[in-house]
Amino acid sequence: MVTDFKHASVIEGVRFTAQVGVPNVLQGLFRKRELVVSTVGRLPADHLAYRLVEGLARKYGPDPFWVRVGAEEALLVTHPDDIRVVLGGSPSPFAPDPDAKRKGMSAFQPTALTISRGDLWIERRAFADAVLDTGAPLHRLAGGFASVAVDEADALLTLGRPITFDDVNLAFQRLTRIVVLGAAAADDTALTEQLGSLMAAGNKMPGEPASGYDAFHARLAEYVAAPDAAALTGLVADAPQSDRTDVPGQLIHWLFAMGDTLPANLVRALAALTAHSKVMGVVRSEVAGKDLTEVESVTGATYLAGCILEAMRLWPTTALFGRVLAEDYRWVNGQKTPAGTQVLIHNLYNHRNRDRVPFADRFAPEEWVTGDAADDWRFNFFSHGPQGCPGAGLAVFLGQAFLGQLVKVGEPKLTKGPRLTPDKLPYALDVYGLEIAL
Ligand code: HEM
Repeated sequence: MVTDFKHASVIEGVRFTAQVGVPNVLQGLFRKRELVVSTVGRLPADHLAYRLVEGLARKYGPDPFWVRVGAEEALLVTHPDDIRVVLGGSPSPFAPDPDAKRKGMSAFQPTALTISRGDLWIERRAFADAVLDTGAPLHRLAGGFASVAVDEADALLTLGRPITFDDVNLAFQRLTRIVVLGAAAADDTALTEQLGSLMAAGNKMPGEPASGYDAFHARLAEYVAAPDAAALTGLVADAPQSDRTDVPGQLIHWLFAMGDTLPANLVRALAALTAHSKVMGVVRSEVAGKDLTEVESVTGATYLAGCILEAMRLWPTTALFGRVLAEDYRWVNGQKTPAGTQVLIHNLYNHRNRDRVPFADRFAPEEWVTGDAADDWRFNFFSHGPQGCPGAGLAVFLGQAFLGQLVKVGEPKLTKGPRLTPDKLPYALDVYGLEIAL
């Protein structure tokens, strides 16, 4: 029997657009705007978004249901089985390039893997997996990368004042240039600035490369043409590729994911650690006396890895992500939805679902070490399935080395920011409002 999915009302759609859709756009889809993010962090905007989706899911779930976003209805998916269908079926038939994402990303990475479809996605994904050692327990170049992370942490430790997100971000941008492009790029801050401007242009969703893209791409191509054996460029020649891969174009995602997204998550993890003295104690004993330039010391800090993942669950950098059906699709209830249907996954709601996640609002790193959080398709800060983040292992490794060093050598304390109540952590943690003394 075919039954239509339930429909949220028009007024609920208006609220969903205002409280979930619009704040995501206002904050800057690709480059977060500091003032707006700070304002959103202070207002309970994420709390309101959570409460709205929770109310809708209780009323219309657990199956997918329709909710209006702007002028169109999209299908909101909340049950882990349905999330598995969508992410397990990405990039086909659940294509990763809804209009807004494609138009925005075209400004700074028009050939990106994450907006590629079909054979092109398969080819580009094989290239990324080969260079990033996706799924391997350890990246081939991990030893050198750990040293870079420790160096950057040491530089912050000697600043002699509380650190801000900007300090950590700058450190990671430097680390990223060394890890991705090589030592010759260490001080090429102009390159990072170029990327920042292109991403800011992406917020306007121009649908084509922004002005300056060609020069930026050409600069990246120069680094690819002069590979550094200790960096990811050194692994490019042996990775599968064709003339459609556009190697410099693939590196762009790696640069902002490592140099922008990762530090935001690490600052939140560090702030959470400062509010949980027992957890901090466990992490400290995990890294005490260890040389974190040695890979075994880094990978051995499994509880610290749990802390990083847990901060990402609590405050996902991608609060909402979407897919678009590339063809008509029949769901298990018999309902057929047409090609072009937008499908939404609201990470903030799924990660904090009080009805289903017993540790929803508290910091529970142990769930990633001895629990089964890692197998739960509800938690999608790295996504899941064929299009799951190919850099996840590398990101966590770099985070372990960096935070491990800060905790081992320093004594991090939150000197500015919200009071974090362990059992009721806020829905948003504004990185621009934090200062941490080391
Ligand atoms: C904390 C850091 C990171 C987070 C939170 C993160 C998160 C994600 C998420 C949620 C996706 C799926 C997006 C979607 O399908 O709509 C993704 C995809 C991707 N990530 Fe990451 N990522 C991180 C770090 C990295 C790093 C360090 C790299 C590379 C060095 C990387 C490379 C990629 C690529 C290339 C894709 C596209 C995969 C595909 O479409 O097949 N990410 N990431």
